[in-house]
Amino acid sequence: MKKGAAGYKPENLIPADMPSTWRAMEALYDSGMARAIGVSNFSSKKLGDLLDVASVSPAVNQVECHPIWQQTKLREFCNSKGVHLSGWSPLGSPGTWIKGKGDVLNHPVVTLVAKEMGKTPAQVALRWGLQMGHSVLPKSTHEARIRENFDVFDWSIPDDLFTKFSEIEQKRLVRGEYFVHRTLGPFKTVEDLWDGEI
Ligand code: A2P
Repeated sequence: MKKGAAGYKPENLIPADMPSTWRAMEALYDSGMARAIGVSNFSSKKLGDLLDVASVSPAVNQVECHPIWQQTKLREFCNSKGVHLSGWSPLGSPGTWIKGKGDVLNHPVVTLVAKEMGKTPAQVALRWGLQMGHSVLPKSTHEARIRENFDVFDWSIPDDLFTKFSEIEQKRLVRGEYFVHRTLGPFKTVEDLWDGEI
């Protein structure tokens, strides 16, 4: 963002100088001030470009990830490079401004598995993430739900139900249109923003 700019307007964005930003983060890591450094919302291309210049690899790439946006391509790339994938919006962020909110917890596969297993849709969505090998970052302002969301470690979704998740039609819930403008800012289209991972 431009210095002093407020709001997610495309004209407030400036192209990020990733190599020099990353060098500054590496200096924090090398000095011991940061125990790990990572990135968020990086596509496979952005991550690859960073790895080309990095001397310290990002420990993690935190991205939107849930049963209806499984990040198959990025997951494989992260795995092949030893970068841990961490999922934000693992419940699809119901109760927020996000379009399509509720689509994850109401998805027929999620509700079917929840019913079969005697778990809640939220627990199933989180457990699916853990079984896929990424970490999940659910948020709740309710104690009962926070407890519910923690209760995902001593059971697992069996293979016959787990495979059903691979049939789910994929869509990104947070497409970032507000970062995109035909003439203003660094991203002309959502395809540009996500380097085609859309
Ligand atoms: P609340 O704070 O009222 O519990 P995400 O982590 O995917 O961004 O989703 C956060 C949203 O999901 C919040 O609106 C939160 O609402 C809601 N939420 C968190 N845990 C649960 C749950 N176990 N069941 C249903 N909704 C949940």
